[in-house]
Amino acid sequence: MGLRRCRAFWVLAVVVAGFSAPGSSLLDFSLGTKGMSFQCDEGGNMWCGGNASTNSEGALTLTPDGRNLPDEYYFNTQGMALYTLPLQLLDNEGRWRSFSCFFRFRIETGKFPGDGLAFVMFNVSRWEGAPGGDLGVYSSSGRQKVKTLAVEFDTFPNKDFDEFSNHVGVDLESLRSKVSRNAYDANINLSGGEDIYTWIDYSVDSSYLEVRIEMRDQRPVQPFLRYQFKLSDVFSDNGTVFAGFSGSNGLCICHNFYTIFDWSLKVIPAGDDSYLYVNSMFFILIGLVFILLLVPLVSILSHVWGRKYYSGQRTGDGFGYRELSLDINEEENKL
Ligand SMILES: *[C@@H]1O[C@H](CO)[C@@H](O)[C@H](O)[C@H]1NC(C)=O
Ligand SMILES: *[C@@H]1O[C@H](CO)[C@@H](O)[C@H](O)[C@H]1NC(C)=O
Ligand SMILES: *[C@@H]1O[C@H](CO)[C@@H](O)[C@H](O)[C@H]1NC(C)=O
Ligand SMILES: *[C@@H]1O[C@H](CO)[C@@H](O)[C@H](O)[C@H]1NC(C)=O
Repeated sequence: MGLRRCRAFWVLAVVVAGFSAPGSSLLDFSLGTKGMSFQCDEGGNMWCGGNASTNSEGALTLTPDGRNLPDEYYFNTQGMALYTLPLQLLDNEGRWRSFSCFFRFRIETGKFPGDGLAFVMFNVSRWEGAPGGDLGVYSSSGRQKVKTLAVEFDTFPNKDFDEFSNHVGVDLESLRSKVSRNAYDANINLSGGEDIYTWIDYSVDSSYLEVRIEMRDQRPVQPFLRYQFKLSDVFSDNGTVFAGFSGSNGLCICHNFYTIFDWSLKVIPAGDDSYLYVNSMFFILIGLVFILLLVPLVSILSHVWGRKYYSGQRTGDGFGYRELSLDINEEENKL
């Protein structure tokens, strides 16, 4: 109970600090079908390049979404969509910041799957790479042209780069993944046409990027993939970074339909990595417990205060501290 209460106070402190610090405008947003929809239009929340668009549900689509058209219609199509506001990954004191992101996507396949989807971060606000195996992220030689971090969800085995189709990988300066893993290890068929829930977190404390995938909205405890690197080695300069998604098809009888339904992202203040380890649902529950605790506490205090006032009037003697704390302890034990 003590620990929980301590956390509750901490949560309250964070909330209060959040409200009372006007200068601290750290990026923290949620977009998609459940709240504010993705908007590709001028002045919208996304910059969309190539074939990226939105649908009537407010979701984001990355390649042409019309179905059952001739194969050529999809040849070498690609889309890039980047959130219009930058993530400031470097604070005023030169400390790098962690981030935490969640999204739900679906990859549906035409005749055969190809090529893949990527969650991306660049040092520029607008960028389009080559289609096909370059995922719309890298140049046609598979190398970066701007500073790049990509987490790829690849559904096609490109013989130069990929060990297998259906893999998740972390890519930096080139398409050759730093680490990658077959999604079947988590019993996931990336192009299986079902919703895939993804969590991508970077912790400045540990320097690890962690990727989690799951077929339901339940964040796995163990990461599916992790890779250690310093943000400063990828995005030098001033830490201004733009995040979003890319998807592509190649020149073959193989294409996918990529839909991002929901996306949330949060930049975490330097030194506050404990954010990454606690599920947001846990925060909400603790908040509720705290409020539930507060109500009886206030009523006890006002009760005690009332008794003190009256007994004080009668006998000239108030309540002792012990009696008061005893009352509160009893009430706590009930909770
Ligand atoms: C895909 O985007 C490219 C570049 O904007 C465009 O030329 C092409 O017509 C688009 N394809 C489809 C099927 O919308
Ligand atoms: C982004 O990175 C590229 C490659 O290092 C560099 O040429 C470019 O100037 C950078 N752009 C910005 C806006 O930092
Ligand atoms: C994954 O799903 C796609 C689309 O349903 C299907 O074509 C493919 O065979 C599946 N892969 C496996 C190994 O089941
Ligand atoms: C970082 O550099 C880019 C490119 O020079 C610039 O557009 C951006 O405003 C800078 N960000 C900050 C926080 O200074």
